[in-house]
Amino acid sequence: MDKKLDLLRLKRHEAMQGGGPVRIESQHKKGKLTARERLHFLLDEGSFQEIGMLVTHRSIDFGMEKEKYPGDGVVTGYGTINGRLTYVFSQDFTVFGGSLSETHAEKICKIMDLALKNGAPLIGLNDSGGARIQEGVVSLGGYADIFYRNTMASGVIPQISAIMGPCAGGAVYSPAITDFILMVEHTSYMFVTGPNVVKTVTHEVVTSEELGGANTHASKSGVTHFACANEIAAIQHIKSLLSYMPQNCEDKAPAAPYENGDELRPELNTILPSIASQPYDIREVIDHIIDKASFLEVHKDFAENIVVGFARLAGRSIGIVANQPAFLAGVLDIHSSTKAARFVRFCDSFNIPLLVFEDVPGFLPGTDQEWNAIITNGAKLLYAFCEATVPRVTVITRKAYGGAYDVMNSKHIGADMNFAWPSAEIAVMGAKGAAEIIFKREITKAEDHEAKWLEMEQLYSDTFANPYRAAERGFIDEVIEPAETRIKLIQAFKMLENKVVNNPRKKHGNIPL
Ligand code: HXC
Repeated sequence: MDKKLDLLRLKRHEAMQGGGPVRIESQHKKGKLTARERLHFLLDEGSFQEIGMLVTHRSIDFGMEKEKYPGDGVVTGYGTINGRLTYVFSQDFTVFGGSLSETHAEKICKIMDLALKNGAPLIGLNDSGGARIQEGVVSLGGYADIFYRNTMASGVIPQISAIMGPCAGGAVYSPAITDFILMVEHTSYMFVTGPNVVKTVTHEVVTSEELGGANTHASKSGVTHFACANEIAAIQHIKSLLSYMPQNCEDKAPAAPYENGDELRPELNTILPSIASQPYDIREVIDHIIDKASFLEVHKDFAENIVVGFARLAGRSIGIVANQPAFLAGVLDIHSSTKAARFVRFCDSFNIPLLVFEDVPGFLPGTDQEWNAIITNGAKLLYAFCEATVPRVTVITRKAYGGAYDVMNSKHIGADMNFAWPSAEIAVMGAKGAAEIIFKREITKAEDHEAKWLEMEQLYSDTFANPYRAAERGFIDEVIEPAETRIKLIQAFKMLENKVVNNPRKKHGNIPL
């Protein structure tokens, strides 16, 4: 037995070495952790149980049969994060550049299958040169096996991808199907084709960082939801994110401890600027309403005219979607619509109630928007709200104009409770534009056009630039003092806690894409 135990220990020891000390040092020199170090920081101490440590590749081409590393470039298994079961894979760049072989893919698929069967989140730590070039089509097949499982698991268990090194070619599509992507600044990048191919095909000269670095994808493309300063920050972010989520779609997100405090927030009565056209930061409003420092903003640097993120209200996890008057006046456009739609769908998939703050002047006009399909993209947000069955509450702080009134979680599309502050203006459009159209004749005939226009603007404003017409119709359930908002929201979400809505049976809907 002693000899057999020695052999086992030797094999385990070999597996722990990855691609060897030289490659590990090179990894560290780049400011990157190894696959195992990352898991050490991600999972609760001592909780990691490895699966497939001794798996090796089956390739025999190009002398590969002589070069084998136990584990084959990916460390897979399960453990706990804050005591909750989580499945993980962590690619090991020190073994063939973390490239994906047939067996490497099989290991990931095995973990994905377990995560799906047992209803727990899947976290992928990606650091890979893509398809194992020596293996050809079996590697491509391995990717496709992963994409298929990502899709089947979508909406069943939360899936999070951290990009901690190169991620090129088809390798980007697994993360893209998952719910959230985090990238590490300066050491990770994602692109379908790298700078060399770009140069050959389009003659553009661009660095990897510019083309597909963390900041590019966090602000320009929106591919990543978080750009993190370093790997430890990314790992901390994953843990925070998970704390707002349930384990699976049948579960509820865990509640944080909460003590009843003074829920009235008098400072909110004066938080809006005195002039309706002036901007303010909706994040300040949010911070005064939710549990202290509980806001985790998602997609912070992308489509800043809408703010989305997780928060807690009386200890319970909620998803917030809020127009941002401090950026482009909070207008809805292509990017803000798709950003919010995807977030709404995540929350709805995982039973996270939705809270919407509305201050929106409408959709952004222009050829750029129209030609790039604001119609289809705006419809995504509309569709996402319409189909959401989680508790849904809206607070209109100021403008709710035009189609955007309908889209932003209005009563008509299934919101459960709709509140408005007395500052709310619920109308087809702003008073100035409205007066110009419907009182055109009166304005033209008048001796003093400007004065008449102002008079008519005032008339329209007195009639519609308030929440009372909507409240008379029941489209608004209650006009509230801003100071009362937190109390009203806590009560509303408590009242809606056991909400059940079953949409018509269907195979699946056909969201405008
Ligand atoms: C096999 C690979 C590899 C790969 C890297 N290595 N990529 N081995 N298959 N795809 C190996 C290298 O031979 C090297 O081995 C080690 O990993 C580290 O690579 P370096 O090049 O020394 O590292 P670095 O300079 O940091 O560059 C990293 C890199 C580069 C940018 C990722 O290696 C690279 O460009 N690799 C190829 C990327 C690629 O084209 N992949 C295929 C994409 S297409 P040693 O022994 O020296 O340590 C694709 C299709 C999927 O993925 C389609 C699915 C639908």
